[in-house]
Amino acid sequence: MFLHLLAAGVWVGGQIVVAGVVPGLRKSSGSEGTKSLANGFARVAWPAFGLALVTGIWSLLARDGQSSTAYSLTFGVKFLLYITAGAAAIAHARSSNRPVIAVTGALGLICSLIVLFLGTLLTHT
Ligand code: HEM
Repeated sequence: MFLHLLAAGVWVGGQIVVAGVVPGLRKSSGSEGTKSLANGFARVAWPAFGLALVTGIWSLLARDGQSSTAYSLTFGVKFLLYITAGAAAIAHARSSNRPVIAVTGALGLICSLIVLFLGTLLTHT
């Protein structure tokens, strides 16, 4: 669970920090600066995204007893949003169209925040 929370913090917190830093960086260093930040973020964030999957499956396997319907439902929604967040982040990184970059960036962050929230619900379900 320590590794799961570490991965969650890097993936979600990293996106928030990058979103906060990008406007200033664009002004001071232009697109070279933001490109370099994006590449650096990707090198750290994608391993964290993968680590969240591995440690999440590990948590599921370590559970004993039967899961309630609420648990299974919460997990199902969380997993779908996890996949959506990953797909949005890939589309965000690959696109060169400003509106598509903005929408997929926002979608990725919103889905990731809900995944984080549903994770805390899971532990108490
Ligand atoms: C980046 C994506 C993810 C984030 C931000 C995230 C976040 C969290 C958080 C904050 C918790 C609560 C920990 C606690 O309260 O101690 C949690 C629990 C959990 N997560 Fe994730 N998670 C992510 C991806 C996944 C994935 C992909 C899986 C499964 C394949 C998964 C499975 C679980 C399970 C099973 C628990 C709770 C176990 C339990 O206490 O019963 N998570 N997650």
